[in-house]
Amino acid sequence: MKAAPKSPVTPDRLVALLLAWYDENRRALPWRAVPGETADPYRVWLSEIMLQQTTVATVTPRFGQFLARWPTLEALAAAPLDDVLHEWQGLGYYARARNLHRCAQTVVTTHGGAMPADETALRGLPGIGAYTAAAIAAIAFDRPAIAVDGNVERVMARFHCIETPLPAAKKELAVAARALAPTMRAGDVAQALMDLGATVCTPRQPLCGQCPWRADCAGYAAGFAPVLPRRVPRVARPVRRGLVFWLEDAQGRVLLRRRPATGLLAGMHEIPSTPWRAAPWALEEGLAHVPAAADWRLLAGEVVHVFTHFRLDLQVARGRTVDGVPDGDWSTPDRFGDYALPTVMKKVAALVGGQPE
Ligand code: ADE
Repeated sequence: MKAAPKSPVTPDRLVALLLAWYDENRRALPWRAVPGETADPYRVWLSEIMLQQTTVATVTPRFGQFLARWPTLEALAAAPLDDVLHEWQGLGYYARARNLHRCAQTVVTTHGGAMPADETALRGLPGIGAYTAAAIAAIAFDRPAIAVDGNVERVMARFHCIETPLPAAKKELAVAARALAPTMRAGDVAQALMDLGATVCTPRQPLCGQCPWRADCAGYAAGFAPVLPRRVPRVARPVRRGLVFWLEDAQGRVLLRRRPATGLLAGMHEIPSTPWRAAPWALEEGLAHVPAAADWRLLAGEVVHVFTHFRLDLQVARGRTVDGVPDGDWSTPDRFGDYALPTVMKKVAALVGGQPE
């Protein structure tokens, strides 16, 4: 591992500058303890899981709703998993909700209901990786851990003018971040770095004039802070395609089915479809996968949804049952909210809703 790049100032001085800036400019976020208040590990953990792949703007209202429903870790551990998945709707990456629930149960059964303070113990819990363990240890327990995410990597790449492209630069950037090694107010240092990355050292057009570290920033001095960190270009996501079967009965109810208990969108509800594959489906070919016989017709338009590892293009066929209704969960679209329906399936419902009967 490379040594941290030399900085003309000491870590202590950088930390002091950062904290002075944070005391004036900290964001008021619902999961944050206000100055003088002790952080609540349950809130910190919940917020970090919600924020793993979701923006602060999206999480902010949802955090309060979630907390109102399950105010304590014990209450969450005792909740049915389906309720948790349902509450998670629209936040995406549902494995997080499943792990959240398992983690709450593990903390109750093996840690007496108290979230551990130690980074290594935290990492052993479901859904808690290196970043989240460091963030919880620092924010909830003031342990001198540095949580290194994309924001912190950007700040470090600029401050030290590290030109190695990501992802190769990850180790070097993490070493640079850990060199800050706060000896006091570790939770505030972690949150100050997050705020600096989110509000000043932003991906495009950073506000260097407002930065507490500008005088020592090598990227700023070199004149190219805004283009750092460099990245190797991403490869395009593969596309998968499917044909969805919107089957209605005489009362306008639509057939839903539950997805398998493991894998993508595990255990959630969906509108039945063909398997998803690279090649497009012709209606005639897709008919081999219909949930029931019906007067199937293809609707205009398609749904496009981007998952982490692939893009999904869905065409939609609509049909009305002819003789009897197959077993399954039947729901009118206005009651879809009763099911944990992933965003991609809500897009299907919106496409059907926007078409003539
Ligand atoms: N991103 C990840 N964790 C965060 C936090 N605690 N506050 C703001 N943004 C975050």
